[in-house]
Amino acid sequence: MSTNTPVGTAARPLRIAVVGSGPAGVYAADILTKSEAVKSGELTVSIDLFDRYPAPYGLIRYGVAPDHPRIKGIVNALHKVLDRGDIRFFGNVDYGTDLSLEDLRTHYDAVIFATGAIKDADLNIPGIELEGSYGGADFVSWYDGHPDVSREWPLDAKEIAVIGNGNVALDVARMLSKHADDLLVSEIPDNVYAGLKSSPVTDVHVFGRRGPAQVKFTPLELRELSHSKDVDIILYAEDFEFDAESDRQIQSNNQTKTMVGTLTNWIAEQPEDLSELTASRRLHLHFLHSPVEVYGDNTGEAGAPGRVAGIKFERTELDGTGRARGTGEVVDYPVQAVYRAIGYFGSSLPEVEFDHSKGVVPNDGGRVLDSSGAHVPGIYATGWIKRGPVGLIGHTKGDALETVTYLLEDRANLPLAAAPAPGAVVELLENRGVQYTSWEGWLALDAHERSLGEKFSADAGTDGLVRERVKVVPREDMVQISRDGVAAEV
Ligand SMILES: Cc1cc2nc3c(=O)[nH]c(=O)nc-3n(C[C@H](O)[C@H](O)[C@H](O)COP(=O)(O)OP(=O)(O)OC[C@H]3O[C@@H](n4cnc5c(N)ncnc54)[C@H](O)[C@@H]3O)c2cc1C
Ligand SMILES: NC(=O)c1ccc[n+]([C@@H]2O[C@H](COP(=O)([O-])OP(=O)(O)OC[C@H]3O[C@@H](n4cnc5c(N)ncnc54)[C@H](OP(=O)(O)O)[C@@H]3O)[C@@H](O)[C@H]2O)c1
Repeated sequence: MSTNTPVGTAARPLRIAVVGSGPAGVYAADILTKSEAVKSGELTVSIDLFDRYPAPYGLIRYGVAPDHPRIKGIVNALHKVLDRGDIRFFGNVDYGTDLSLEDLRTHYDAVIFATGAIKDADLNIPGIELEGSYGGADFVSWYDGHPDVSREWPLDAKEIAVIGNGNVALDVARMLSKHADDLLVSEIPDNVYAGLKSSPVTDVHVFGRRGPAQVKFTPLELRELSHSKDVDIILYAEDFEFDAESDRQIQSNNQTKTMVGTLTNWIAEQPEDLSELTASRRLHLHFLHSPVEVYGDNTGEAGAPGRVAGIKFERTELDGTGRARGTGEVVDYPVQAVYRAIGYFGSSLPEVEFDHSKGVVPNDGGRVLDSSGAHVPGIYATGWIKRGPVGLIGHTKGDALETVTYLLEDRANLPLAAAPAPGAVVELLENRGVQYTSWEGWLALDAHERSLGEKFSADAGTDGLVRERVKVVPREDMVQISRDGVAAEV
């Protein structure tokens, strides 16, 4: 190919690397291929999608709760995008370890980071580091079979506190309180079923620091709590404070109205004498509680705090602006485990500027900025790493559209790759011994997991249990099944 071949043509397509195959990365790749410039034939693009996991879909696989089958439609749509064959998938490739920024710049004209978030935000209260105090994101990674977390999870507490009033808090509380057998129809890995089955839990308490009209969770997720069998929901009348601002929020937001309606119906239907409730497990929803301290049982060496024995909260009241302030009253709940679900937090990326207070890559509409606030040519961001860890899968589509629009606007000024041939990056990975997986490899792993589900369902005999899949957890097994599957087809 001549060095004068114009970039963006069939002979020399615009080469773009997308790092992260969660929804934001897949949408960005898809939107690029469907852009007006590409559809009209004015531009040809060639896109490679990298992920550090051997499988695609990011938090859809390692965040969304296993009992949420209704996002299947989204997975099917993302599957169709990657199954078309015009976007190459390279799994098990870590940006920062297997590939550097310089590598990406050598092989691509532009890079879009869509690396999301997988860690818990910090909660700075005394005792949060005690044994028995956990990050909700870590628990989510465990129950979703994340390849890089321990396969053991200590489920030995009878009473548990969950801090936070977002959808992750509800996921965590539901997974902790639900009976394991009711999750057997889902795709939970076998070790997760076994762990949950042995849990002695009787009471899970969820604490929000503001009122019922200020919750961050959503109506469907709230109502879902009431679908757990043999779990009673308990609410407390003293937590139902609504000020003028709450009334305004309820009247102006249908979701808030629906959720407050659900909560007030539940409390109205609740027996005055709670001993009349018959379920073997209880899920308590508390509002206007701000966490102050996790305390231990003093069983550590030399009087050290030991493991979690309880948690203290300051009661709060609404301050008229939608926020809450402390009242000075401290209340104490004896619990043996504490889960904080107060938000996720993005991780920094080597050689890319990072905003440590927000946990995002600094950017202007997706154009990544350097420390002086100038756009780094050819580098873009999308999804949670661009905007922070808030919002549903669907919201990452709008992010991707904005980022891709800017990238296409900049296309005449991109710093061009020195080695844009699609084979060059494959050679680089192979020379480095990177055991990368491919889309065909994912199809093989997907088929394998589905066959495990079928086998389980058949073995369950007449119980009518249907499991769509059983997840393979260890990274090396995922990689081997993917790579063997492809090798077998060759
Ligand atoms: C627990 C939980 C449950 C949720 N449930 C729902 C739900 O039911 N419905 C809904 O609509 N939304 C749900 N969401 C929100 C949804 O998951 C997010 O909106 C969405 O996943 C964000 O997409 P993303 O692509 O930006 O990030 P992610 O989904 O996190 O994807 C980022 C990808 O980047 C990869 N990556 C990271 N670093 C590197 C690196 N260095 N090199 C290579 N690859 C890398 C990761 O492996 C990952 O695959 C949930 C979120 C959480 C936390
Ligand atoms: N099924 C689903 O659709 C689903 C499932 C999971 C997640 N998601 C989405 O993923 C995104 C992230 O969810 P998330 O639950 O991690 O975050 P989130 O929606 O931002 O909720 C975080 C919660 O933590 C509370 N919090 C923050 N700091 C706190 C502190 N210091 N002390 C006490 N409480 C504190 C917040 O209270 P304040 O409001 O007072 O700040 C809020 O209630 C959301 O958009 C969510 O909808 C969706």
